[in-house]
Amino acid sequence: PLVTLREILQKTDQSDYGVGSFNVVSMEMVMGVIRAAEETFSPIILQTAEARLKHSPLNLIGPLMVEAACKAKVPVAVHLDHGSQLEIIKQALEIGFTSVMFDGSRLPLAVNITKTLEVARLAQGYGASVEAEIGRVGGSEDGAEDIEMAITQVQDAQTFFEHTGVDALAVAIGNVHGVYKREPNLQFARLKDIHAAVAAPLVLHGGSGITAQDFRQCIQHGIKKINVQTATLHKVVAKVRSLFQQTENPDYFTYHECVIAAAHESAKDHMEAFQSVNQA
Ligand code: 13P
Ligand code: ZN
Ligand code: NA
Repeated sequence: PLVTLREILQKTDQSDYGVGSFNVVSMEMVMGVIRAAEETFSPIILQTAEARLKHSPLNLIGPLMVEAACKAKVPVAVHLDHGSQLEIIKQALEIGFTSVMFDGSRLPLAVNITKTLEVARLAQGYGASVEAEIGRVGGSEDGAEDIEMAITQVQDAQTFFEHTGVDALAVAIGNVHGVYKREPNLQFARLKDIHAAVAAPLVLHGGSGITAQDFRQCIQHGIKKINVQTATLHKVVAKVRSLFQQTENPDYFTYHECVIAAAHESAKDHMEAFQSVNQA
């Protein structure tokens, strides 16, 4: 069933697991991710990023995500990732998304607070949850820009949460969108301090490329939602490439099933790493 982000994250309170938040851009990806969640009995979040809407328009992919969540045998929250435009955030809420992110990470703290509050008021009218970001995750969610990371300051996170009371707070602790150019060097000491200072469930963006061991440490120190996108896209490309290399003339639906299988495989691996298996 379709649930809010608040609800899905609240349930993590009693145990040590993180909820996978998977970016999807097609029906095949939606099907693969949902299948993995049902098979492993994992709660999940289905999300799509504002920057991807030029490829997968919100009026088409949005209702598909909501419908898939409603029919799923496990709890699924449907979330707008890295929202920046109020109009798009509103469109997602109208479609039935149960959660939206306002990404004000490039704005000064005070402006981020003001704009997040505006989004929170809007979302409240729909009973939806809100994620915001403090500090700045490196790289951009669509790889279009090389955004420099800004590690989250504990005091900023505390001030931000006091003023906004968001349902989930994304932090920058050395995590990066896309491929890590060198081994990820996550700052667990900083994460611990943020977790001690802020009561909000924390979000780790840039999940692709992080080890299972690092995921476990993140979860121990307050990370409840983990975003994964690049790993899924790469897995699809790799599997489709090998299908075309191995088969002379694959028919369309062999290709179609291959995309679903790739999304399924990547999502399942991550659910196991996040220890969300049997937590639905
Ligand atoms: P990756 O592409 O590194 O998995 O990051 C996903 C993300 O943070 C989406 O918001
Ligand atoms: Zn992100
Ligand atoms: Na990454």
